[in-house]
Amino acid sequence: MQEQLTALKHEALDKAEEAKSEQDIQAIRVAYLGKKGPITEVLRGMGKLSAEERPIIGALANEVRDEIKNKLDEKSKKLQEAAIKQQLEQESIDVTLPGRPALQGAIHPLTAVITEIEEIFLGLGFSIGEGPEIETDYYNFEAMNLPKDHPARDMQDSFYVTEDLLLRTQTSPVQARTMEKFAGKGPVKVVVPGKVFRRDDDDATHSHQFMQVEGLYVDKKVRMSDLKGVLETFAKQFFGQDRSIRLRPSFFPFTEPSVEVDVSCGICSGKGCRVCKQSGWIEVLGAGMVHPRVLEMSGFDANEYSGFAFGMGVERLAMLKYDIDDIRQFYANDLRFLMQFKDV
Ligand code: PHE
Repeated sequence: MQEQLTALKHEALDKAEEAKSEQDIQAIRVAYLGKKGPITEVLRGMGKLSAEERPIIGALANEVRDEIKNKLDEKSKKLQEAAIKQQLEQESIDVTLPGRPALQGAIHPLTAVITEIEEIFLGLGFSIGEGPEIETDYYNFEAMNLPKDHPARDMQDSFYVTEDLLLRTQTSPVQARTMEKFAGKGPVKVVVPGKVFRRDDDDATHSHQFMQVEGLYVDKKVRMSDLKGVLETFAKQFFGQDRSIRLRPSFFPFTEPSVEVDVSCGICSGKGCRVCKQSGWIEVLGAGMVHPRVLEMSGFDANEYSGFAFGMGVERLAMLKYDIDDIRQFYANDLRFLMQFKDV
């Protein structure tokens, strides 16, 4: 019986050594150590042995079983290690290959321009305000001295939500909202960037949605020369120190007098070229002295207070500054366009 066990041991150990996979190991385990395996069988036959032989054979059988088990465990571990090693070799990474650069986003040019405008006016003592994009007829028109049926309303047709609610056509209603907050006491000094909407046909220079920055300064003794000084300072900081501005008479219902503000052409330095249509000047914004009726409607005493207001189109300023020939570029989300402003 002893020889039988020793032979079984050698046989199992040899097979374990030759095992090539985890399945082989499992098969050998079942074949030799399983309930129906030869070792179990030997142990089962021990009843027939003499009292002296029994402990010897029992001990040997246990030893053989342990040895086979250890060998199988060891072999199994080796197989696993070999498998991992092989996988690592197959998956080897070529660290000399150049990496794929991650696409980095950038600030949208309109946002960058608004930030720049804000910073210039913050430097001049203005603060930043805001107002709703869905506006009431009262603030958008009436408080801006545009009563119902006033013909100047035709210039700014809009999208109506209800009879009385519309997408604002200008940032000017924030003038009235801001003055109301100050309850008749100046100084009021704000710039308000925001989206506006008009029922315009979209073309290279018009869009049904665009952005404006409104400016308002109300205090005692604010004069037209203050308006000119502030806008000239703005134009020089935004476009360059070599630029100048001029004011032309115009009409807005909420300002009196009203002006159209031109900046000298940066291409021809005022000599006249295709861009400025030979005039040497480019129109950039509307402005004027706040109409006394507008001051009064928003709670300011027009005998004590005066003010100026202006409204500029952000896209237009950006187009002039960066030589952009089509307003639709801002909204098309074309990375070839947007990425040119990565460092602006
Ligand atoms: N709200 C005017 C427009 O959209 C611009 C403007 C603002 C003019 C303030 C004068 C004063 O055309």
